[in-house]
Amino acid sequence: MAHFISPSILSADFGRLKEQIELLNESKADFIHVDVMDGVFVPNISFGFTIIDSLVKYAKKPLDIHLMIVDPDKFIERFASYKPSYISVHIESCLHLNRTINLIKDFGVKAGVAVNPHTSISLLDEIVSDSDMILVMSVNPGFGGQKFIQNSLLRIQKTKELITSKCSNALIEVDGGIDNDNIYAILEAGADIIVAGNAIFKNSDIIASVNNFRENFN
Ligand code: DX5
Ligand code: ZN
Repeated sequence: MAHFISPSILSADFGRLKEQIELLNESKADFIHVDVMDGVFVPNISFGFTIIDSLVKYAKKPLDIHLMIVDPDKFIERFASYKPSYISVHIESCLHLNRTINLIKDFGVKAGVAVNPHTSISLLDEIVSDSDMILVMSVNPGFGGQKFIQNSLLRIQKTKELITSKCSNALIEVDGGIDNDNIYAILEAGADIIVAGNAIFKNSDIIASVNNFRENFN
């Protein structure tokens, strides 16, 4: 089974955004993870359409958009216009999750469901077969550079079991606090897509950092 790396642009130096995206383009990154935060669903505001408009001008890697916002339905069409590979919405922020997932897929984009660390994986039972990806949060969403929550390993395993039991093709993305030390355990637990922000952008050589990460699993 292939594994993928999705560097989170949240940890980039936004004063040099074009340059940093070009480094990701040259690296072996599979996606660019785009964290959108509204200051309501999470206690932080990241960036909105103006920045993503600039980002897509330079990005040659497919986008993996993670929406940490309330009521995402009203913005799905706009995010889908960037032609990302994935748009993920949080189970905790969607009143009608099945409708939201179908809305994303109607625009030809793969749909992900993100789950916060406190949310029981069993709540995915009725949605996993309709999802292209389950995004297991391994930190409380809102900030880059946080510590990996160890219990996430068990949650990844439970997600894997659920996907298998439903014969679903959904991939498992894991997001938050991943570095070169804990990545093996995370892959072992069943992750398919690894998000990494701080662990990649804190290094002066971003290309080498992405490629080293990727060599962990291929
Ligand atoms: C947290 C975001 C993550 C974060 C990952 O709310 O969803 O994508 O940027 O960054 P690190 O790898 O630094 O935890
Ligand atoms: Zn994210």
